[in-house]
Amino acid sequence: MIKLKNIWKEYKIDKDNTFTALKKIELTIQKREFTAIIGSSGSGKSTLMHIIGLLDRPSQGEVSIHDKNTSSLDDSEISKLRNEYVGFVFQQFHLINNLTVFENIILPARYSRKKLEYDPKEKAFELLHRFGLTDKKMYYPNKLSGGEQQRVAIARALIMNPELLLADEPTGNLDSKNGEIILDILKELNKKDNLTVIVVTHDKTVSNRARRSIQLKDGQILSN
Ligand SMILES: Nc1ncnc2c1ncn2[C@@H]1O[C@H](COP(=O)(O)OP(=O)(O)OP(=O)(O)O)[C@@H](O)[C@H]1O
Ligand SMILES: [Mg+2]
Repeated sequence: MIKLKNIWKEYKIDKDNTFTALKKIELTIQKREFTAIIGSSGSGKSTLMHIIGLLDRPSQGEVSIHDKNTSSLDDSEISKLRNEYVGFVFQQFHLINNLTVFENIILPARYSRKKLEYDPKEKAFELLHRFGLTDKKMYYPNKLSGGEQQRVAIARALIMNPELLLADEPTGNLDSKNGEIILDILKELNKKDNLTVIVVTHDKTVSNRARRSIQLKDGQILSN
């Protein structure tokens, strides 16, 4: 489903210096895999996640989605593909505080130019119900617990029916009980809904439950 070929990512630090965050990454992710990306702080996990999710482009190398090389796509084609194909969940939730829970969940569908085969409002209600948030639909995010905010973020990530769910430290701001709940949701989305899931994590309980772990060190894949 996703193929990375010889990916390098360099950041410009000042006019004379660059920092190489990813080096010759070769990686294939199959459909319906549940993969953890592990590694110490600064090892390049988020950078890799952003490249896989088409939020950022590599300095060198190819990212192919379903055998289609994305290098030749322009920015608007990339953002269209990203909007339809991938959902993101972050450690800091990244919800919009002046929109209600319901409005947050439905937002990606509002921005999309794709004609959906379903009513996004109905889908949003289904997701609210599934994640036990129906009573909270008119709440603003800052009135919710961390676990609830993360469930809203997952619902928002699912509104476009993505094939791929990327989660960057999704349990990093939660206590262990809420972390478990989020992890169970990700596992269920993988098993029952056939989503391909990639989770960046420091948390051993998360990576132990993934079928595959990819370890990064200094921008390179150590084991895979
Ligand atoms: N925009 C940028 N400009 C310069 N350097 C950057 C930029 N973004 C990331 N880096 C550097 O690239 C390296 C990898 O960053 P990345 O965010 O991918 O690490 P990470 O593995 O996700 O770390 P953490 O576990 O702390 O989130 C870091 O050393 C970071 O300082
Ligand atoms: Mg990170």
